[in-house]
Amino acid sequence: MKILLLGKNGQVGWELQRSLAPLGELIALDRHSTDFCGDLSNLQSLAETVRAVRPDVIVNAAAHTAVDKAESEPDLARTLNATAPGVLAQEAHQLGAWLVHYSTDYVFDGSGSQPWKETDTPAPLNIYGQTKLEGEQLIAKHCPKHLIFRTSWVYAARGGNFAKTMLRLAQERERLTVIDDQWGAPTGAELLADVTAHAIRQVMHGDASSGKDAGIYHLVASGETTWHAYANHVIDQAQKRQPAITIKAKEVTPVPTSAFPTPAARPHNSRLNTSKLQTVFGLTLPPWQQGVDRMLAEIL
Ligand SMILES: NC(=O)c1ccc[n+]([C@@H]2O[C@H](COP(=O)([O-])OP(=O)(O)OC[C@H]3O[C@@H](n4cnc5c(N)ncnc54)[C@H](OP(=O)(O)O)[C@@H]3O)[C@@H](O)[C@H]2O)c1
Repeated sequence: MKILLLGKNGQVGWELQRSLAPLGELIALDRHSTDFCGDLSNLQSLAETVRAVRPDVIVNAAAHTAVDKAESEPDLARTLNATAPGVLAQEAHQLGAWLVHYSTDYVFDGSGSQPWKETDTPAPLNIYGQTKLEGEQLIAKHCPKHLIFRTSWVYAARGGNFAKTMLRLAQERERLTVIDDQWGAPTGAELLADVTAHAIRQVMHGDASSGKDAGIYHLVASGETTWHAYANHVIDQAQKRQPAITIKAKEVTPVPTSAFPTPAARPHNSRLNTSKLQTVFGLTLPPWQQGVDRMLAEIL
């Protein structure tokens, strides 16, 4: 099997380099690659890359992920999150290849308190969510053999993340304020990458290679929390693992989303129902604390 990975150095892309390697020949690109073009803003060269590599599977982990910045650069966000995945879908379909792509709970408006199902109606609140939804629609239109994994609150040990920021601030400040009216499940890039590899194996073998398992899947760790409870968990765990760490923050004060105005509106309810994925692929999604605690063990 030949796999073309785009966005190899992002949080998810980095972990995919590990999880996809045992599946076959992996050609991994980022936007600076020189052997083949991996720049999603260069649509012509991107199509030429797919035609030259002739992969069996394209995995697209590249995206415009700067949610607030997308509000002031909607054209670039649309090119990267919608037009380029559409080009990849057309090229994949020409080859009979699968396209694997990632999307977001931000396609929903965040109302209510029930976990969103794949069949619920999207209604994005911001440009990032709108362009990610357009990307999903272009992929479904052009390439029937697709897997789109909608996820939320992604973190990785590599690079910056919410947990690292909370730990730093808790050591610097006496009081922290963290949002407590947005609900979701922190989801590790490792988990996303591992589930992706399992799903690819399934759709490439047996009767599943006909494309019967194609579609959109919600993929997050199990359980739910708020940013406020997540911050408390991180600080408690850090103190247990590293008693030498001096936490200055005496309290983490819960505040509403309105306390931190941002250019892009955020959904309050980012809960995703993962029953479809667990049933179709026979997988169990672990509690969110498991991946977060593992990441803390790596960085502390
Ligand atoms: N992060 C989250 O909380 C979250 C939540 C829900 C869904 N998702 C989705 O999950 C997927 C992976 O996200 P992530 O968390 O791994 O994001 P990430 O760490 O920001 O990675 C995105 C990657 O895209 C690359 N990229 C940006 N512009 C590009 C271009 N013109 N051409 C090629 N590559 C380009 C970035 O490269 P540079 O570093 O060079 O800019 C980066 O490596 C995305 O589809 C995202 O929408 C993420």
